[in-house]
Amino acid sequence: MNEIIHILHLLAATTWAGGNLFFALILLPAMARSPAAEASALFDRIGPASGLVMGVSGVLVLVTGPLRAWAGGGIPSLGALGSPYGLWVIAAFVIVVAVSGFDGAGRARLRRSFDDPSTYPTVAGGIARRTAWVTAGGMTLLILIMALLGLGLY
Ligand code: HEM
Repeated sequence: MNEIIHILHLLAATTWAGGNLFFALILLPAMARSPAAEASALFDRIGPASGLVMGVSGVLVLVTGPLRAWAGGGIPSLGALGSPYGLWVIAAFVIVVAVSGFDGAGRARLRRSFDDPSTYPTVAGGIARRTAWVTAGGMTLLILIMALLGLGLY
């Protein structure tokens, strides 16, 4: 059981983290440098597929992460949430929710910015810069926490 949850967790986590990093470090900066109409058309075209892939993998990360902690014996009961292992797991959960919320708010602002092509380059550039920092920082922290848990350094 633990093996299946672990594999599912790795699948979901790599898909979610890789998708977020590709969007934040490659696609969004390219969209911010494009004319508003072009960026808007691309945004609409990638919307359904990216919403599905990122939505499903994001939910799976939030489900399989805590499940992995329970199935692996790191958090056998709710009381163990206060242990060092439990606190790192909570920190990972909070980071995933926070990064998702920040990025979602950025995408909503980007969508609104398409309406005014004259201010679009400045607004989109700011959104792209902030999203890149928050996403790259969040993913780095998450990988550090996972490495720490995997290596027993807690
Ligand atoms: C809700 C957020 C998350 C929680 C609660 C969580 C929880 C866990 C737990 C408990 C383990 C097992 C650690 C151990 O060996 O005791 C694990 C492993 C792992 N997680 Fe996560 N995780 C989360 C998100 C992520 C994300 C977003 C990534 C990718 C960026 C990720 C990548 C990994 C990797 C690569 C391992 C394997 C570590 C190893 O065995 O050395 N996790 N995770």
